[in-house]
Amino acid sequence: MSVDLSVDYCGIKLENPFILAPSPSTDHLELLIQAFEAGWAGAVLKTVAVDSSIVSRVFPLVRRIEQESAFIGLQNIDLVSEHSVEVIEQNVRTLKKRFPNKVVIPSIMASTKEDWQSLAKRFVDAGADIIECSIWCPHGAEWGLCTMVQEPVGTEQIARWVKEAAGDVPVVIKLSAQDSDIIATAIAVERSGADGVCAINTIKSITGVNLTTLIPYPNVAGLSTYGGLSGPALKPIALRCTAEIAQKVDLDIAASGGITTWQDGAEFLLLGANTLQICTAVLRFGIGIIGELKSGLGGWMEEKGMHSLTDVIGRSLPYLVEHSQLPRGIQFISNIRAEVCKGCGNCYTACQSGGHQAISLVEGLPQVIMSKCIGCGICRAMCSSGAISLVRPTKDLNII
Ligand SMILES: Cc1cc2nc3c(=O)[nH]c(=O)nc-3n(C[C@H](O)[C@H](O)[C@H](O)COP(=O)(O)O)c2cc1C
Repeated sequence: MSVDLSVDYCGIKLENPFILAPSPSTDHLELLIQAFEAGWAGAVLKTVAVDSSIVSRVFPLVRRIEQESAFIGLQNIDLVSEHSVEVIEQNVRTLKKRFPNKVVIPSIMASTKEDWQSLAKRFVDAGADIIECSIWCPHGAEWGLCTMVQEPVGTEQIARWVKEAAGDVPVVIKLSAQDSDIIATAIAVERSGADGVCAINTIKSITGVNLTTLIPYPNVAGLSTYGGLSGPALKPIALRCTAEIAQKVDLDIAASGGITTWQDGAEFLLLGANTLQICTAVLRFGIGIIGELKSGLGGWMEEKGMHSLTDVIGRSLPYLVEHSQLPRGIQFISNIRAEVCKGCGNCYTACQSGGHQAISLVEGLPQVIMSKCIGCGICRAMCSSGAISLVRPTKDLNII
């Protein structure tokens, strides 16, 4: 069986769902050419404003975030493109001439109707396939380059302006998870006549404080500021936004936030994303990850008997219901497989501190006290060896 990875996004056919998200990786023509040659289906170019030169970047731009020594994300204080609109226009022309089948998406940011519309028109004239609007940036507000909206009314207004200027070229609005009601804002985008949303942008954050200098991170020559959180830490929030938008709004969705592997990508597609925008994983592992993303996704689809992405997109949404609709009255209990247990004691601690004290330690190894276990799953969540499952009580377990 051969698998077709092509996908329709805002009425345009992409050869696969993987797109570079706007970041320093998409601000340089040479890198974009390499990425297209490597197999990326498209790229959203680093956001540009009418007069980007009024902002000045500070360094370092990014900081790594770890939890228990594992990479969980990045925080960045980057601003708009280092290049002028003229340079980006030229990049769009060059890319479209050389790669007519790749999807080139300029990302624009403005603070007046006139600027939103003039940018959109310029990039449409340069040959852009789609226009993406960056209406929010966690650390860009004071520069006055952007309207900075995270609510329905302002978002709808901008979407209408850009849609009017872009003519037949599709318009996508990039949403923020900090929006007080991302669904209401996505509905406003739908009302505007725009074609899609990208969800989500980075989340405004502080990643820590240096306990020696007392200066919060990032330390820019002795002072700090708030920055945008990206990478794996964002994934659960981005998955939720993707699913909720897909369930409630009839718009194409570019998922963004914590997509690192093909498995992550498959999850976003199953929850309704049409395309997958990737940034942090590219900075971390390079543009070459596209090979594994495509082959991994294709291999999994083949194994599942799914021929095309229409078999995948939104497939998991019917399982997502409101809390009140979840099945009630079904009993589970913890089952610890002794042959897998490493005896770390995490399950015992968890059950003592948050459960029903339903685990005892017998010669250092945990045993479930069946009469006390309510199946809350806290022990399974804390188990470091995957030894615990939740099972329905049966005669085998001597409970019935
Ligand atoms: C260094 C850096 C620069 C970014 N610049 C932009 C930008 O110019 N415009 C934009 O819309 N998003 C920008 N982003 C956000 C990414 O496009 C993406 O939405 C976000 O990082 C979440 O995806 P990820 O978890 O794959 O990184 C930037 C992110 C990083 C890390």
